[in-house]
Amino acid sequence: MNTTPFLALIFLASTVASAAGTLHLIQNAPARQGISLAGPWQTIVDPYESGYYDYRYQVQKDGGFGANKKPKTPGELVEYNFDTAARLQVPGDWNTQSPELMFYEGTVWYKRDFDYARKPGHRLFVWFGAANYQAIVYLNGKKIGEHVGGFTPFQFEVTNAVRDKGNFLIVKVDDQRHMEAVPTVMTDWWNYGGLTRDVRLVDVPDTFLEDYAIQLEKGSQSRVAGWVRLNGGGARQRVTIRIPEAGIAQAVTTDENGYAPVAFDAHLGLWSPESPKLYDVVIEIGADRVADRIGFRGIQTSGRTLLLNGKPLHLRGASMHAEAPFRAGRIFSEADARTMLRWAKEINCNFVRLPHYPHDEVMTRVADEMGLLLWSEIPVYWTIQWENPVTLAGAKTQLTEMITRDKNRASVILWSVANETPRGDARLKFIGALAEHVRGLDPTRLVTAALETHYVGDHTIAVDDPLGKYLDVVSCNEYVGWYDGTPPKIDTIQWTTEYEKPFVISEFGADAQAGRHGDVGTVFTEEFQADVYRRQVAMFKRIPFLTGTIAWVLVDFRSPRRPLAGIQDFYNRKGLFSDRGQRKAASYVLSEYYQSLAADEPRP
Ligand code: GCU
Repeated sequence: MNTTPFLALIFLASTVASAAGTLHLIQNAPARQGISLAGPWQTIVDPYESGYYDYRYQVQKDGGFGANKKPKTPGELVEYNFDTAARLQVPGDWNTQSPELMFYEGTVWYKRDFDYARKPGHRLFVWFGAANYQAIVYLNGKKIGEHVGGFTPFQFEVTNAVRDKGNFLIVKVDDQRHMEAVPTVMTDWWNYGGLTRDVRLVDVPDTFLEDYAIQLEKGSQSRVAGWVRLNGGGARQRVTIRIPEAGIAQAVTTDENGYAPVAFDAHLGLWSPESPKLYDVVIEIGADRVADRIGFRGIQTSGRTLLLNGKPLHLRGASMHAEAPFRAGRIFSEADARTMLRWAKEINCNFVRLPHYPHDEVMTRVADEMGLLLWSEIPVYWTIQWENPVTLAGAKTQLTEMITRDKNRASVILWSVANETPRGDARLKFIGALAEHVRGLDPTRLVTAALETHYVGDHTIAVDDPLGKYLDVVSCNEYVGWYDGTPPKIDTIQWTTEYEKPFVISEFGADAQAGRHGDVGTVFTEEFQADVYRRQVAMFKRIPFLTGTIAWVLVDFRSPRRPLAGIQDFYNRKGLFSDRGQRKAASYVLSEYYQSLAADEPRP
């Protein structure tokens, strides 16, 4: 585990750009012209990074493996060759593609050849959905950029570097954990490495629509507000925003920076889990045309109440890692996202927490369509380096990239800036800065964080973490009856809050191995887990200011911290479904509770 100065450099480089606010990330990149570079990539596993550093641990000047050197004569020594190397699928983590790589943390080099005839008057970008954790990118032997952060998109312009034939794209991906990173070295999820999401060559006109935000104005149900931003070309360009189904065609003119605010009245059907109405929204400028599917809804708080489209909202939630059911690798496909969200709906959820890092865009888009509200989060998880400016900058970058990508998704209502972080001034200052950063980027959604429990007396849990003052919604993880006492303790617990804000129990639960049965007192049995759920549900009903609950967790997931052989086998078994899709007894306890809550909701 090395804390390379190189990492600090990358952090600073990437953060300067986004900290300044304008992140040049193409909105809705998968819907743009161009090609996907998905498929088999040639790969070289490089545990000692010998393709990057020389034996003196100095960065190789010639680009190392990024140069894709070929021996010119039989006598010339070149000790790597992508052409004879193994293949790995992209998108995809490397861990589940070969048993040798399951526990591997380090560098893997990826190479992909492609031809692409660039059209005159067009520009090209190489776009990555995500690469865990650090990526250094080379095109045709030249370094074109770097990115840090394993769960958010990034891109590099390659207009003048692409040739019609014989291009080779090489990416050094390294997923080593670092103390100063986000996440830091200790997590309860599998550190899947690789090009885990789609890679695309995005082809846009010289002047193109780079980014846009089209949502309901905060507090309004009949006014759309947002902005558009162009990249390239002169100022004073005419941009038209159309919502054909609503008969809307709104024109704006950009300023010298290619920016224009957008605001207009519109009587639109509001998006909600019960009726996830999406509209085709088409934005046109000159030669560029971008189509998106957008839902319009309002999310606010009023005292301790959450309001969706002005109506009280109770969150019936479950969390789920971005891990595919059955094959247990990183999720990147619509099918996987749909399966997971269908299971959430099956237990009567109207809400899903996407822990602890930004999930694939496919998840937020399918949630838009299926009608599930979302909590999206960056991995400021457990104990990170609160006083390290590199860490803070890295966290801000991930927030900027996450919010930039998903700001048009109706399903996303909460941005979470932290999970289970220890109280302290440095932490407060750090996370306070993140909350402010979020509000600067997106004033239309709510900010939250998962706080830890704090007992006042043996049986009273107080929601009094000072961090709560920076949040719109205060949330608390609790494991009464699992890590905290035995199940009967749950029956004795009272809750108090010092906040006039909505309160959500953001994690609760217990492990059970699907199919393991026994008496309620035996851990890891389905009976034990169901008993915990029954007692938790009873406790929820005793909390007058409770606005929602989020079960930990929808599906069993891989974790390096769970080695218990024969039961956990490197899985966290708190799922209501096993990773094989088996429903556990506790899932029926929760779905019944959620059904009763849904039945009590006022009909639209
Ligand atoms: C924590 C944490 C989760 C973890 C869970 C557990 O609260 O936020 O990431 O998996 O507890 O221990 O199961």
